[in-house]
Amino acid sequence: MKIIIIGADGQLGLDCTSILAGEHNLILPTIAELDLCEESSLRGFISAHRPEVVINCAAYTAVDHCEKELEICRRVNADGPGFLAKACGETGSRLIHISTDYVFDGRKPIPHPYLEEDPVHPLSHYGRTKLDGERAVAAYGDDYAILRTAWLYSAGGPNFLKTMLRLSLADPAATRRVVNDQYGSPTWSHTLARQISLLLTSEIQGVVHTTAEGYATWYETACSFLEKMEIEHNLAPCKTADYPTPAHRPANSILDNGVLNQHGLSLFVDWRDDLDTFVKRHGRQLLAELGSI
Ligand SMILES: NC(=O)c1ccc[n+]([C@@H]2O[C@H](COP(=O)([O-])OP(=O)(O)OC[C@H]3O[C@@H](n4cnc5c(N)ncnc54)[C@H](OP(=O)(O)O)[C@@H]3O)[C@@H](O)[C@H]2O)c1
Repeated sequence: MKIIIIGADGQLGLDCTSILAGEHNLILPTIAELDLCEESSLRGFISAHRPEVVINCAAYTAVDHCEKELEICRRVNADGPGFLAKACGETGSRLIHISTDYVFDGRKPIPHPYLEEDPVHPLSHYGRTKLDGERAVAAYGDDYAILRTAWLYSAGGPNFLKTMLRLSLADPAATRRVVNDQYGSPTWSHTLARQISLLLTSEIQGVVHTTAEGYATWYETACSFLEKMEIEHNLAPCKTADYPTPAHRPANSILDNGVLNQHGLSLFVDWRDDLDTFVKRHGRQLLAELGSI
């Protein structure tokens, strides 16, 4: 199958590339070849290649920066997906677009998970632009799935777990406050990439929740990871109010993979099991990258 992956250098894009490369003909444009914000060149690229599937892993993901970089965030997260959906409609390509838990306000009582059909109400500019991206895909798309995921980590690309590892290795005794009143499902981008592989040819249309099973706070996630890595640390739980950030984040980011489960297609396991496998597979590599072995 001919597949274009946009954002192939990002953490999910790298895992999609490695999962799909053996079986499919992948086209991996650089941002210079395909900029989501450039409608006419984007349409030209898609119509020249006429892929069966386009996977959009690209986004403006720096959630706090989005509060200042309003325009570029909107172009990449909201306008770009609309351009892409139109272009895919012209070539009859299926579009798999990635969205986020941050379309919700997190006011649902914990641990009740958000369903695909629950009302959306983003708290941040990032969340609002991602929601507008979803709406643009739905408005212009013919054959599409919008996968909402959350709390991604991977061996490639910077992420929360790698930051916790770097800080703890640098100074294990230093006390680091980590938020302990926001709940979500840490999701390994490798598992999401496998799930995407399964959805390439599926009949599923529309919004699909795609996160690991189970949930934790950021603090619990960090402690669990560092313990599995056998790294000394001194993390201290704190409240969101004690750790102010430019963007507001939902207290409840737990998603229910309802659509996947109804179709019997979910590959997701409990987040702790995936984290175990991640550490076994990549632990030494992560330490080597930080010069620790
Ligand atoms: N990370 C999370 O915890 C998380 C949580 C929920 C949902 N998501 C969603 O999951 C998806 C993948 O996230 P990720 O963590 O893999 O993101 P990432 O590592 O930040 O990668 C994003 C990619 O998008 C590319 N990109 C940015 N602007 C572009 C443009 N105008 N045209 C083409 N490419 C562009 C980036 O290229 P450059 O590196 O060259 O800028 C990068 O390769 C995104 O849709 C994100 O919103 C992520």
